[in-house]
Amino acid sequence: MNVYLDNAATTAIDNEVFEAMKPYLLENYGNPSSIHSHGRKVRSAIEYARKTVAELLHASPSEIFFTSGGTEADNALICSSIESYDLNHAISSKIEHHAVLHTLENLEKQGKIKLSFVNLDGNGNVDFDHLEELLKNNGRSLVSLMHANNEIGNIIDLDRLGDLCENYGAIVHSDTVQTMGHYKHDLSKLKLHCITGAGHKFHGPKGAGFMYIDKHTKIAPFIHGGAQERNMRGGTENVYGIIGTAKALEIAYRDMEEHQVYIQELKDRMITKLKNSIEGVGFNGESENKDRSLYTVLNVCLPPSPDNDMLLFTLDINGISASGGSACSSGASKGSHVLSGINADPNRGAVRFSFSKYNTPEEIDYAAEKVAEFYSELAVKS
Ligand SMILES: Cc1ncc(COP(=O)(O)O)c(C=O)c1O
Repeated sequence: MNVYLDNAATTAIDNEVFEAMKPYLLENYGNPSSIHSHGRKVRSAIEYARKTVAELLHASPSEIFFTSGGTEADNALICSSIESYDLNHAISSKIEHHAVLHTLENLEKQGKIKLSFVNLDGNGNVDFDHLEELLKNNGRSLVSLMHANNEIGNIIDLDRLGDLCENYGAIVHSDTVQTMGHYKHDLSKLKLHCITGAGHKFHGPKGAGFMYIDKHTKIAPFIHGGAQERNMRGGTENVYGIIGTAKALEIAYRDMEEHQVYIQELKDRMITKLKNSIEGVGFNGESENKDRSLYTVLNVCLPPSPDNDMLLFTLDINGISASGGSACSSGASKGSHVLSGINADPNRGAVRFSFSKYNTPEEIDYAAEKVAEFYSELAVKS
């Protein structure tokens, strides 16, 4: 059996998305900046894609800018808002994606900002009282906190985040890469200045994504070049990527309720199977909690064993793709900064299963069985 359970890393492209992209790979190859008919045809397809994304997110097309994906969008929004608003302080958390964390750390290294990390509880939830303290005790800040964590699935309350930051005049960025296409975002209500999306996390193409910048937020471009994306992002557009991203988002919104229920059932099934068959198994962060975590992500806290590192390898041999990591043990340079950030036990390995609409209950049973088999064989050996 071949089982793909690494959908937080990337997802399979939807056939409907591929069909929508195909004409822009084959027939409609004009440069959208060209004013002749070949160019104009492609330009109007890009603008239609922008309108699609904007309408789904309750934003205006002028607030959507296409990028090469989540990493570029995070870099651009963080660097440009700090520069444009002349900010010298940023608040983030230790469990952000590296696209955010390394960008902020680099700005700090260059002496451009002071970086503060908000306290997290043992499950990785943001301490909002501490966030308020940091906002109160520093000048105008950039706050960058992800909507949902890609490793442990924890979800933050974006309404609360926006309301709190508004009181202190902070600029708020949220990396929404893991929730885009999986939850509905209403940007007309959220008090966020900017968010990000990446097509390949919701069955769209890799190397394409977008940033939303609220119309009252004026920031300078990050990539300089031509006048593309209304002077906000130079470079000939990734046309088929843009078309595919918008189509994927449209499909995701169309089928969202059905998929949410289906995928949550798969996750619940995996939790039950693992709990019933492996003694001492647990779940990192809020990953077991339906109301506080992504329905697509389950981070399994493995029983303590020196052989935990072999689990992913064993799963791979059995045709199961998942990802893993454990908290860094002291002095080790590798490991999951997220699990270290929530002080997870470094002696307990972790495996992340992440699900999509294409997974089946049979695949879940097979994967859970293989994990259980691994631990029962270890028990026999010891
Ligand atoms: C939370 C989060 N932010 C940003 C990214 C980066 O997105 P991309 O792969 O499109 O650069 C990812 C992808 O792993 C992610 O999970």
